[in-house]
Amino acid sequence: MNLSNRLLACCGFVNPGDRVADIGCDHGYVGIHLLLTGKASSVIASDIHSDPLNCARRNAEKYGVRSKMSFYLSDGLLGLPRDFDCVICAGMGGDTIVSILERAPWLKGGSYRLILQCQSKRPLLRSYLSRNGFTISRETLAKDGRFVYPVMEVLCLPSQPLSPEECFLSPALRNSGSPLLPEFRDRVLGGLDKTVAGLSGTGGEKYETYLALRNRVAALPIPEEGGNP
Ligand SMILES: C[S@@+](CC[C@H](N)C(=O)[O-])C[C@H]1O[C@@H](n2cnc3c(N)ncnc32)[C@H](O)[C@@H]1O
Repeated sequence: MNLSNRLLACCGFVNPGDRVADIGCDHGYVGIHLLLTGKASSVIASDIHSDPLNCARRNAEKYGVRSKMSFYLSDGLLGLPRDFDCVICAGMGGDTIVSILERAPWLKGGSYRLILQCQSKRPLLRSYLSRNGFTISRETLAKDGRFVYPVMEVLCLPSQPLSPEECFLSPALRNSGSPLLPEFRDRVLGGLDKTVAGLSGTGGEKYETYLALRNRVAALPIPEEGGNP
């Protein structure tokens, strides 16, 4: 089974022996990989749709790990058993992940670790986390094809709210030492440049706000390539 670099990066934040809950498991490959490599001791696989969940069940049978996996048709963490160490939420939009966390207030203050990888609205997710009792403890980057994906490890502990610019490039990411950081920073700035260009000529307050934000993101220090984080 060939796992993408994005999903391998998620697995990289799992601690040996963890009981893992994979929310939005789809094919189930993350949980299956974690069991086949002996990294996870058990896996709760959940999905909001029955077709992917059935596919995960079949894959678990195929790879001989069915006895260590349990399957739940569920919206986020609703109705799931809580006897796990870490939650993986990958391949969803940042707003979907926020809505999943909002409806699981019992996570806060617990010893759970969250491994989050979102496909969109990353600043929204980082802002939500830093203002709602979570800490981004580690963040790294993975590249598949032409896409670069941030992957976060999050603790259920309160932290200082991130500034708007830090929601684009978190301190954890800037200190990650990832060789993909300069490329990712350029992509983030490229996205902001496009937004600013789209607003230029409007002369509005929004243009000024985005231009200032773009410049503050550009001014965030990142270690030199190859240097110490
Ligand atoms: C794009 S797939 C990602 C699958 C896998 N996690 C990955 O990263 O490759 C998103 C999966 O999340 C499921 N999903 C979306 N919203 C969900 C929710 N609120 N609760 C549980 N699963 C959800 C979808 O049905 C789909 O199978």
